Amino acid sequence: MPILRSLFFFLFLFFSVHSEEDTPIARFRRYLQFNTAHPNPNYADPVSFLISQADSIGLQARTFEFIPSKPVLLLTWPGSDPSLPSVLFNSHLDSVPAEPDKWSHPPFSATLTLDGKIYARGAQDDKCIAIQYLEAIRNLKARGFVPLRTIHISYVPDEEIGGFDGSAKFVPSKEFEDLNVGFVLDEGQASTGDEFRVFYADRSPWNLKIKASGAPGHGSNMYDNSAMENLMRSIEVITKFRDSQFDVVKAGEAMNSEVISVNPVYLKAGITTPTGYAMNVQPSEAEAGFDLRLPPTVEPDLIKKRIAEEWAPARRNMTYEYYMISFGIGSYHPLMIIEKGPLRDYMGRPLMTLTNDSNPWWPVFKQAIEAAGGKLTRPEILASTTDARFMRERGIPTLGFSPMTNTPILLHDHNEFLKDTVYLRGISVYESIISSLSSFKGESHKMHSTS
Ligand SMILES: *[C@@H]1O[C@H](CO)[C@@H](O)[C@H](O)[C@H]1NC(C)=O
Ligand SMILES: *[C@@H]1O[C@H](CO)[C@@H](O)[C@H](O)[C@H]1NC(C)=O
Ligand SMILES: [Zn+2]
Repeated sequence: MPILRSLFFFLFLFFSVHSEEDTPIARFRRYLQFNTAHPNPNYADPVSFLISQADSIGLQARTFEFIPSKPVLLLTWPGSDPSLPSVLFNSHLDSVPAEPDKWSHPPFSATLTLDGKIYARGAQDDKCIAIQYLEAIRNLKARGFVPLRTIHISYVPDEEIGGFDGSAKFVPSKEFEDLNVGFVLDEGQASTGDEFRVFYADRSPWNLKIKASGAPGHGSNMYDNSAMENLMRSIEVITKFRDSQFDVVKAGEAMNSEVISVNPVYLKAGITTPTGYAMNVQPSEAEAGFDLRLPPTVEPDLIKKRIAEEWAPARRNMTYEYYMISFGIGSYHPLMIIEKGPLRDYMGRPLMTLTNDSNPWWPVFKQAIEAAGGKLTRPEILASTTDARFMRERGIPTLGFSPMTNTPILLHDHNEFLKDTVYLRGISVYESIISSLSSFKGESHKMHSTS
């Protein structure tokens, strides 16, 4: 009997392993099952999986480690004219954490429900595009398609924590330079309607801290220029500015991501006692912090001037600090702005990709979407940031795009899911995009013309 039972057990194992299908959905779910959540993302296993997928399709694979244990995987489909600038499709390997007890299915189970929803952390952000790129190439190869331009796919670590050990190292590297990238597609966001969304810029986040000082005094005394008074005057001015920006959004004249947002995130003042605060002392210092986000159309010097002259003026005993991080190299300035990303590319142009005929890639991309039966909404600025800013800093036209329509926006949320039908449609959209972009003969003769 025990022998018979173990025989059944082995038969069961045999069929359960071998009946696991090798379909696009099964491959997507396998990629979703790697736990790539911060703070300890598993990078090694998904990279091995992607390399095995690349092998099965016949793509070249290379791994770079600019930082130990933080691999950048690059897959390449060589074009018939390698002298033309290549097209790069980027996605990040990592995900934000999930709180399993708030989910209806374990976040790394990639549970497929009867109505076709695939639940997983990363299903929308952005493991869908990671595998869709590969499936699209698999299908194009099966049809005998030959690209004119070389196609690259990059898988980068740490996007969700700022990209400083990922794209910030990869994009400025010699290895990247050698790819001669002419155009990049990176992640976008789900659309709740029938049309696909596309993003041409990110907002630049700054952490602004302002500090006021003034003569301390008894709580009963009314006098001018206390630290609290100085800080509160600044808060009034900043609030007025915030209202002016928010009114434009409320009037429907701009989207949230198209205006400057400035939101207070902390206030710090007061003399603490074991039971709370001394209620009869006006403190000599007071501080406030703001999350400030600038669209690329804003002239950063004008905001810096506004901060220096109106929001934290020295004449009101106010100070601020300035701290800028670009390409992972932090330079410290003795002012109090923390600027996480610059607003200009290396040539001083706004960090945005044109979505009109001045960008020769734009009509090719747009027509590829239409050829796949899709439509684009009005191009948008992303309210947050992605790795696309590193490509744009190099002056490379870069669009954010994830082909998800009729899908609730669940990135970083509980119960993140993507429907199987939406996922599969995305593969055919990428087939159209990859074949169009890689066949684009380009206007390089025009760009290099001196006439
Ligand atoms: C600035 O601080 C000094 C020293 O605390 C104080 O005497 C002065 O009145 C303050 N001036 C303003 C404009 O707040
Ligand atoms: C494209 O947009 C840019 C920036 O708005 C503008 O300067 C340029 O003239 C536009 N090009 C065309 C062909 O409309
Ligand atoms: Zn993402």
